[in-house]
Amino acid sequence: MISVALPKGRLGEKVYSMFEAAGYECPSIKENSRKLIFENADVGIRYFWVKPSDVAIYVERGAADIGVVGKDILLEYSPNVYELLDLNLGKCRMAVAAPKDFYDDTQKTLRVATKFPNIASEYYKSICRDIDIIKLNGSIEIAPILKLSDVIVDIVETGTTLKENDLEVIKNIVPISARLIANKATFKFKTTEIEKIVDAIKAQVKYDD
Ligand code: PRP
Repeated sequence: MISVALPKGRLGEKVYSMFEAAGYECPSIKENSRKLIFENADVGIRYFWVKPSDVAIYVERGAADIGVVGKDILLEYSPNVYELLDLNLGKCRMAVAAPKDFYDDTQKTLRVATKFPNIASEYYKSICRDIDIIKLNGSIEIAPILKLSDVIVDIVETGTTLKENDLEVIKNIVPISARLIANKATFKFKTTEIEKIVDAIKAQVKYDD
């Protein structure tokens, strides 16, 4: 039996479809219920719906054998897991954004609002810029509008949230996409089963031209 932590939401549903097409179907998952765990013993698979930002925790601690998580979470928390495959789904980027009239006064410490303090710190360390991190949990875009911060470091997907709040990207830091990860210990003793899944999923990944 292989257990899979799927991120709740649209991305997770796409990922489940890939598992289904790979032969790991679990029809009960499509029933409209509040259940979070689904199993199909015939094909040896069990799925859990978890909060996207928690997938890596389940996998790192072995509560799930494999899972699907955004690269943003892997970069921010550095969980001790194997990253097996880029699914080329859930594509977005981590970027620095600021109000249109932003001017970077390098004499001053830059105030950076973000949900990703480690990614932001690493980036500014790499360019030797002194910053003050303001850790928020959401709606990051309002921080510079209310003068809580000078800039933000956040995920940009369509760019709509920035545009509607009169902000613009001033620097792209890193591209983000969904990754298939595995628990390190489980991978050692279920290598064949996990590699079989990885190959079947890989065959369905749509890469850019
Ligand atoms: C994410 C991100 C941006 C937005 C980017 O927020 O933090 O706010 O999506 O998407 P866009 O470029 O397509 O507009 P999320 O929806 O996770 O909500 P949050 O504000 O609670 O972080």
